[in-house]
Amino acid sequence: MAQARVAVKEGAEQQPSHAAIDNGNPANFKPKYLVLDDINIDLITVGVTTCTLISIFAFHLPAVVAILVAATIILPLRIFFPRPTTPQGLALITGASSGIGAELSYIFAERGHDLILVGRNEDQLDAVRSNVEKKYGKIAYTIASDLSLPGAAKQLYDRVKNEGFTVDILVNGAGLGAAGETLEQSAELAERMTTLNCIALVQLTQLFGKDMVRRGRGWILQISSVGGWMVSPGQNIYHATKHYVRAFSEALSIELRGYPGVVNTQLMPGPTHTQFVTRAHAEETFMMAASGAMEDPKSVALAGYNGLCKGKRMVFSSWNAAGTALMMHLAPRSVHLTIASLMNSPLRGMVRMNEPEKDQRVRGSDL
Ligand SMILES: NC(=O)c1ccc[n+]([C@@H]2O[C@H](COP(=O)([O-])OP(=O)(O)OC[C@H]3O[C@@H](n4cnc5c(N)ncnc54)[C@H](OP(=O)(O)O)[C@@H]3O)[C@@H](O)[C@H]2O)c1
Repeated sequence: MAQARVAVKEGAEQQPSHAAIDNGNPANFKPKYLVLDDINIDLITVGVTTCTLISIFAFHLPAVVAILVAATIILPLRIFFPRPTTPQGLALITGASSGIGAELSYIFAERGHDLILVGRNEDQLDAVRSNVEKKYGKIAYTIASDLSLPGAAKQLYDRVKNEGFTVDILVNGAGLGAAGETLEQSAELAERMTTLNCIALVQLTQLFGKDMVRRGRGWILQISSVGGWMVSPGQNIYHATKHYVRAFSEALSIELRGYPGVVNTQLMPGPTHTQFVTRAHAEETFMMAASGAMEDPKSVALAGYNGLCKGKRMVFSSWNAAGTALMMHLAPRSVHLTIASLMNSPLRGMVRMNEPEKDQRVRGSDL
């Protein structure tokens, strides 16, 4: 007991917040609770529903009356609030050279946005740029950048600033997966995956997010994954990175309550028919090849765009994706782990996913 008191006293003398400042962390907190955002509306919905059930079953209130009262409180909130503004201004999209990121580029261009397209494959970035300019008449700039390298996110930000661009919309779409057993994968692959999927995403959010907060408006779309709800033997590191993204993005949405003009939405795609699957060597896994859950990248991208417009903190690409996440969230861990390992198991050539379209040049005609 005496020792515990000494520890507290020493802690108090050391001024932990000052120690934090010395370590480069200003340790500022600006929590806000009384905001009519989708988190509080969900909270009110849960609270009112629980009270309604209690009043019906414990206090025998007539069900019709209780439900009518609940609906009068919940429905206007869910229909009319929150009312975020539709995204406006220049959009920077990472992972724009293919798949979901390319589809988002077309969606933003169609809605009137100029774009900065980021990826490594310059040829494919140019093809997306040319599609955007020909079909939608919007300006698209391309920047080739390998965001899996340390410091690349900051370099990208500096370059965009130096060239005088103001980014109003940030889409963190670039991502890399890898099927296979953890100990068989190289340390270098693990480093690239975590740097790209986690560190670059966080740093770009911080750097562009601070500017958005200063201007009082901005929209951030994080491309996460249903993998963020699954512990996945056979795709361990990738799904662990998506747990990171899910946690980061949800907490950020709460922190951004203090800045009403800035929206942060995360999109949770299920298995989607893109090069991601072949790049991750996951085309023979049950989840990709035989589960029947494969989604079209265009509809996945649209779900993300619509979620951003509505100011949602999280959107799923489909009911199937939402159902999978819910099931994995609620299942006992033993069931969860068994299902996840079956979903990620290779079918050894029995069935393979069809090769997705690689070339954005051929997308031009059917946009
Ligand atoms: N497909 C799925 O089943 C699925 C499911 C859930 C979530 N997701 C997520 O969705 C996002 C988009 O993936 P996708 O399905 O559209 O796959 P994709 O077609 O392979 O797109 C991935 C994008 O990321 C870019 N990228 C990869 N490594 C990069 C690096 N080191 N630096 C910069 N850019 C890099 C790629 O461009 P370059 O090759 O030009 O660099 C490409 O534009 C990813 O975050 C992924 O985790 C995908």
